Amino acid sequence: ARIDKGGHKHFMSKEIAEQPTVIAQALGHYLSGDGAIALPEPGIDFAGVDRLTMVACGTAYYACLSAKHWFEQIARMPVDVDVASEFRYREPPLPDRTAALFVSQSGETADTLAALRFCQGKAGSILSVVNVPESSIARESDLVLPIHAGVEVGVASTKAYSCQLTVLLILALKAAQDRGVIGPDEFADHVSALRGIPSVMSEALGIADNARRMGEKISQARDVLFLGRGQMFPLALEGALKLKEISYIHAEGYASGELKHGPIALVDQNVPIVVMAPRDRLFDKTVSNMQEVMARKGKVILISDARGIEEAGEGTFGTILMPTVQEVVSPILYAVPAQLLAYYTAIAKGTDVDQPRNLAKSVTVE
Ligand code: G6P
Repeated sequence: ARIDKGGHKHFMSKEIAEQPTVIAQALGHYLSGDGAIALPEPGIDFAGVDRLTMVACGTAYYACLSAKHWFEQIARMPVDVDVASEFRYREPPLPDRTAALFVSQSGETADTLAALRFCQGKAGSILSVVNVPESSIARESDLVLPIHAGVEVGVASTKAYSCQLTVLLILALKAAQDRGVIGPDEFADHVSALRGIPSVMSEALGIADNARRMGEKISQARDVLFLGRGQMFPLALEGALKLKEISYIHAEGYASGELKHGPIALVDQNVPIVVMAPRDRLFDKTVSNMQEVMARKGKVILISDARGIEEAGEGTFGTILMPTVQEVVSPILYAVPAQLLAYYTAIAKGTDVDQPRNLAKSVTVE
């Protein structure tokens, strides 16, 4: 079927707006009515898995970094995450109780496919999280977990990212169950947080006007820093990647606590610093890092929930108010501001949002 922009100016904005719908679709495929997790055949039993190795490129790699938090914290499973182009030349040892998991929107990325082939015959099982179930990566996996995002046209990945996160969180919950490390109440809480995503994500899309105003400011900058701690660190990386991909502004994502070990030297009144910080356990730490840049006249844009903005919004350059959600799903929700800030910055700069220079949707060469 022909895909059109459905009234949007760009595929990217259409795909950002579709997220509540496609995430609901993905949830419908993996969660049964009674809240049980249903994986496609042949399934996997994580009771037989001691270690998880995740490999991907680009945005899919950042989805893996978020999943590492979930697998470690919820399923208490040791996790390695690697960029595909670095993985196989190191020839990492893979004990046979290792599961290797490959995340790829297209399922055709050459580096990711090569990494998968390196693992064949070594890892105990080969899993993939893909958007294209007929892809090479899917065909060569023991278990394929489709993300059900629908065709993604914009070169900069958006809805595939949030759907990858959704499926990876479900998989981490399944691992926690199989390994007997999660009680029924905690499990039910996480499932209900997952089920709530489509509606909070629709609400989060309401930040668009604010993101447009912030994007206009960011479009004047030469360098932009994105900061996050814990679960929000991968989001800072993704926010910076989105921005450089489509607006061509130099951006770096940093772990808030690493700021003082280098990037703070960049900070002056011309540098916007986007801080991704829901009011979670680590909030106070992030805020103290944020104050360090404010003391150096950095222009902080704080993205947080009502409580976070109330506690720390004063003196910032701008704030973006997000819905309050359970901590576990905030990485999925905060994909929205990462995407919209990049989108509106690119619009303000007049760049080609859907077809950024030098980039390809799927990179099938090494
Ligand atoms: C390209 C795209 C990125 C994408 C990466 C990995 O660089 O421009 O948006 O994240 O490839 O693609 P994959 O299809 O493997 O997820």
